[in-house]
Amino acid sequence: MKKRKHVISLKDLSPQETLDIINRGIEYSEGNVVQGEQLKGKVIGIYFKKTSTRTRTAFTTAALRLGAQVIAYGPNDLQVNTGETMDDTLAVLSRMLDGLVLRTAESPAILRAFANQERMSIVNAMTEDEHPTQALADLTTIKQHFGKLSGLEIVYLGEGNNTTTALALGIAKFPNMKISFFTPQNYNIDPMLLNYAKEEAAKRNTVIEEFHDLSNLPKRADIVYTTRWQTTGTTKPDANWRELFEPFTVTQELMHQFPNAIFMHDLPAHRGDEVEASVIDGVKSIVFDQAENKAHSAKAVLEWCMR
Ligand code: CP
Repeated sequence: MKKRKHVISLKDLSPQETLDIINRGIEYSEGNVVQGEQLKGKVIGIYFKKTSTRTRTAFTTAALRLGAQVIAYGPNDLQVNTGETMDDTLAVLSRMLDGLVLRTAESPAILRAFANQERMSIVNAMTEDEHPTQALADLTTIKQHFGKLSGLEIVYLGEGNNTTTALALGIAKFPNMKISFFTPQNYNIDPMLLNYAKEEAAKRNTVIEEFHDLSNLPKRADIVYTTRWQTTGTTKPDANWRELFEPFTVTQELMHQFPNAIFMHDLPAHRGDEVEASVIDGVKSIVFDQAENKAHSAKAVLEWCMR
């Protein structure tokens, strides 16, 4: 039996593997691939314990378009709801499925513990601390838009969350990039993962930095990126959190500081919170190309894992 691979954390992928997935996603996005045979005969489970519009649809359509059969499990469908352990659940599913795309509330540790087996690919469709397939789709969109990754500078404003962590881990694999994260005090990126990303980045002359003070905004940016303030499935302990977040809204005024920058957002968006409507709906916004590329990148991920 051919061994199956996993996408659980971007820490596990080499720079070349990451680039291969990005380049393949671009090929799919540009319609350069005949689809339908890549995953023929495969059965893929899609198990989302939390809400999703894009990621769930992206992986489901990707699997179907590449010829796989799909079983979709809703949050209440499996016996984990009646007390069966995730370990047992994954052990059973691995005897029947070729791949499982999973969004859970837990940390990736439970997925990683199970990644020793090679019967069934596991794709992390978002855990508490990382959203690796979002970063793969984002880097696909960025490389497609600019024709390169090297030399690009990104400014991120908003919460330090699973998308920002994945973005940092992804960018760390490529040379001569820069990302400056601006996060509210106490809503920062996981320090351990950020430090890991910084160290990896430094090996390639890439800069990853985090500030809480907007006076540190750089002079130039090619991309301004934000995410919604209330990350899926999370709540904020501080009742006055909005006051802390408001300075980090992406406004037209901020975009004017970066006249050549495009705007990106992983969606879902809350216009008037993290971004002004005129920015996300304006000419510099590529958010729906970005969303579409989740489906093309999902094809690249599934193909890389299972072929
Ligand atoms: N960006 C993203 O992960 O969207 P969904 O939560 O809708 O999947």
